[in-house]
Amino acid sequence: MNDTTTKDAVLEVKGLHVQLPTPDGPLGAVNDVALSIAPGKTLCVVGESGCGKSMTSLAIMGLLPRSAKVPQGRIEFHGDNLLDLNQSQLSDLRGDRIAMIFQEPMTSLNPVFTIGDQLSEVLRRHRKVSRKEARARAVELLELVGISGAERRLGQYPHQLSGGLRQRVMIAMALMCEPELLIADEPTTALDVTIQAQILALLKKIQTELGTAIMLITHDLGVVGRIADTVAVMYAGQVVETGTAEQIFSDPLHPYTQGLLRCIPIPGKTARGARLGTIKGVVPNLVGEQTGCRFYARCEFAHDACRANVALREFEGAHPARCVRDISDMRTTQPDLSASEVAS
Ligand SMILES: Nc1ncnc2c1ncn2[C@@H]1O[C@H](COP(=O)(O)OP(=O)(O)O)[C@@H](O)[C@H]1O
Ligand SMILES: [Mg+2]
Repeated sequence: MNDTTTKDAVLEVKGLHVQLPTPDGPLGAVNDVALSIAPGKTLCVVGESGCGKSMTSLAIMGLLPRSAKVPQGRIEFHGDNLLDLNQSQLSDLRGDRIAMIFQEPMTSLNPVFTIGDQLSEVLRRHRKVSRKEARARAVELLELVGISGAERRLGQYPHQLSGGLRQRVMIAMALMCEPELLIADEPTTALDVTIQAQILALLKKIQTELGTAIMLITHDLGVVGRIADTVAVMYAGQVVETGTAEQIFSDPLHPYTQGLLRCIPIPGKTARGARLGTIKGVVPNLVGEQTGCRFYARCEFAHDACRANVALREFEGAHPARCVRDISDMRTTQPDLSASEVAS
């Protein structure tokens, strides 16, 4: 065990690479990603669309597209490398000790089975329980996720429920076996703001009750401010900065993180109607060999030294970031924020 290993982490991803074939060559969707989540804590993974958040979570779940390759890396669940497991071992873990909720619940609920059948099936797949016990557990979970008339809902089909209810059913399903790790990939993006807030509050409540470690993928920094213990900021397939939520909000180091934080409205700080900052440019094409800092083309501080590859660096008295600048220089360009201000 080396000194970068977090003690008692539920999940530890190390040097993970994921490549997807394209007609123009392999696309490096995930490049040297490291993540760690402690029991009962929430890691938020943030970054613009296309930066590899979903591919990272699918790799953890063992659900990458068939054509994907994982040339390097380790995904340790309680110290065991999930990349060494075969499909049957992985499917024993999935739904039991590790569960995932996706952005669009209709794609993961089966339209031809009732809610009750689908919830029961998850439990019966992993536990020796009777049909009756499984249904009782289903009712219990539907109540836990705040669905009223749970008994009656068991006989309903997914299409008979609203989007918000379907997402709650998905969460209930993910929690049937009390997983130690729950991965939620933008679980509230498709929902309206009120329901979004309810679902997040629900995840927090469940975490407190069950001690679940949560990896929450989101591009909403307000959500991060509300729910994260730790944060990993991803850009173009890499983690460019990682730390506690307080560190990321009050001491953002990487120009990309600083740029993201300038893009969000802050209650009481951002004047009504004021223009939000935007980061100019687009995420680079990830096909083929990449050299140098991936943020180079969009970074106002880019200089010659940035053309060389840069790893996630440790800084004295701060958290790691993937940037060649001196920490004192990085700090001169920080927006002035705290986590609680960002929590909308
Ligand atoms: N099935 C696929 N085949 C090829 N490339 C893909 C596939 N799915 C995603 N990608 C590419 O992989 C990169 C990472 O995507 P993804 O993990 O979905 O990003 P995010 O979830 O952060 O939006 C993107 O460049 C995306 O275009
Ligand atoms: Mg995604």
